[in-house]
Amino acid sequence: MRNKIVAGNWKMNMSPARAVELINSLKDKINTTEVDVVVCPPFVCLPAVLEAVDGTAISVGAQNMHFEENGAYTGEVAPSMLVELGVKYVIIGHSERRQYFGETDETVNKKVLKAIEHNLLPIICVGESLAEREQGVTIDLVRLQTKIALKDVKAEDAKKVVIAYEPIWAIGTGRTATSEQAEEVCKAIRNVVAEIYGSEVADEVRIQYGGSVNAGNANELFNMGNIDGGLVGGASLKEEFASIVNY
Ligand code: PGA
Repeated sequence: MRNKIVAGNWKMNMSPARAVELINSLKDKINTTEVDVVVCPPFVCLPAVLEAVDGTAISVGAQNMHFEENGAYTGEVAPSMLVELGVKYVIIGHSERRQYFGETDETVNKKVLKAIEHNLLPIICVGESLAEREQGVTIDLVRLQTKIALKDVKAEDAKKVVIAYEPIWAIGTGRTATSEQAEEVCKAIRNVVAEIYGSEVADEVRIQYGGSVNAGNANELFNMGNIDGGLVGGASLKEEFASIVNY
């Protein structure tokens, strides 16, 4: 049985001090131990957040990392730096990274391989734009994104990755995919994982839905057969995140 996983993607919000306040208020409100809880703050908040979650079941993820070990990459953060801090997860290939920072399926794959090499658990983001959905290519596109992201990933490592299906048209728009739309694509992702690795791996991989998840829709979404939790943006900056985790 797969454990549900709910991750908060804070994006470029909060500050180290405000982050600690939020963690402290979440700690008292999260009342389930059956869901893996992850918060992904901006890099500069990581040390404060790691200290604040100490002794709780909340894990910490980064929002990005570079695929090289170190070197002349001004402004970038290396995987070993995250590991040294105690970071466990890393979001890879979020649509905002693809859209504004030139990330491609190929760089996503390089980052996934590098994260695994460092024992960081990747949360790999895939998803279609509104135009792509209207053209009817959602499933083809998401299958392709998933296949390229997992290229050269070994079966034993593939089991540990998290894949987040995030339709771009649902991110930050208040327009959530219906549970049926989300389930259809999450199921297609599980099928492509099964084609590559077999059903045992596909049964273990956790697939999240992301895009305007809130306390009101989490329960229906997370109860779909192939949706193992969510990647939450806006609502993860508030105490509402605890209600989503407690769905
Ligand atoms: P949202 O963002 O919940 O604000 O739509 C989700 C995401 O981008 O991960």
